[in-house]
Amino acid sequence: MKRIGVLTGGGDCPGLNGAIRAVVRSAIGGMGWEVVGFRNGWRGVMDRDVLELSTESVRGILHRGGTILGSSGANPYHEGGIDRVRATLHDLDVDGVIAIGGEGTLGAAAQLTEDEIPVIGIPKTIDNDLSGTDYCIGFHTAVQIATDAIDRLHSTAESHNRVMLVEVMGRSAGWIALYAGTAGGGDAILIPEKPFDLEDVTAHLRRRHSRGRSFSIVVVAEGAVPKPGTLTLPEYPVDERGFPRFGGICAVLAPEIEQMTGFETRVTVLGHVQRGGTPVANDRILATRFGIAAVDTAARGEWGTMVAATGNEITTVPLKEAIAEVRRVPEALYRMAEVFFG
Ligand code: F6P
Repeated sequence: MKRIGVLTGGGDCPGLNGAIRAVVRSAIGGMGWEVVGFRNGWRGVMDRDVLELSTESVRGILHRGGTILGSSGANPYHEGGIDRVRATLHDLDVDGVIAIGGEGTLGAAAQLTEDEIPVIGIPKTIDNDLSGTDYCIGFHTAVQIATDAIDRLHSTAESHNRVMLVEVMGRSAGWIALYAGTAGGGDAILIPEKPFDLEDVTAHLRRRHSRGRSFSIVVVAEGAVPKPGTLTLPEYPVDERGFPRFGGICAVLAPEIEQMTGFETRVTVLGHVQRGGTPVANDRILATRFGIAAVDTAARGEWGTMVAATGNEITTVPLKEAIAEVRRVPEALYRMAEVFFG
């Protein structure tokens, strides 16, 4: 009989509960194993904060946002916690851990693998920027929420002849901005991969309005960056995990745009709304497939890997590869979006 642990770490997102449910159902029902849940990511492993999970305990959670296990950005390597991780797994007789997380949580998982602690990763982040997988849990829901917001902003933008700036999440990669901007018919999209010059953006808006358009929607990733020497953004504070705490770029851009174009400009910051609530069907399916694949991968003894979406298949990649670099929006995809900027 195997006994595995499961945890959710880092920023939450819709779909985590679907992955927990799939791990528990396939481990218990399919393999005859036992499953323990660690509370609040790696914190629960270090502090031995656990709960036994049963088929019963994961009933009715598939459609629920957040995570029944709680989450945190705790990293055993930041607080000398490796021995505590080892001791917990040994004392609770846990053969390995399935860690559902993004770059921080899976970064720790990759290091634990080097230290011969058995971990399998499941990728989640609404930013969708982990390498080795086409999609991460949470992304599709965030895109849908942002698209719905852009749809709604269209009518009010049009009524008032305004420029609407919509700020979406995306620290180092502009996947949400690109997808939601394309799906929602954004008139310009600013992402970290394509440093922008406000002169070009405003010239584009003026051109658009001179051709008879009375409003514009500009979708801005929170991590978008101006071309060097064109505009200075305020320094972002850094969070406890060492990541910049973004938010607020549109508040800087709006008065500049208003002044350079003469068009009244308003800002909507979607923030954590993009991470809350019910997961869309695509995230439920992805989470379910990932959870089952992670248990199968554990059964094959392929620790040190992350399950991944490759086209329509679920595959595995070494954890080290998944966190090696940020997966950015390719140029070709941005060019596709640009076709509709006119
Ligand atoms: O990485 C996911 C993400 O949602 C980013 O898009 C965002 O910048 C960050 O997390 C926000 O983190 P927190 O929940 O710590 O504010």
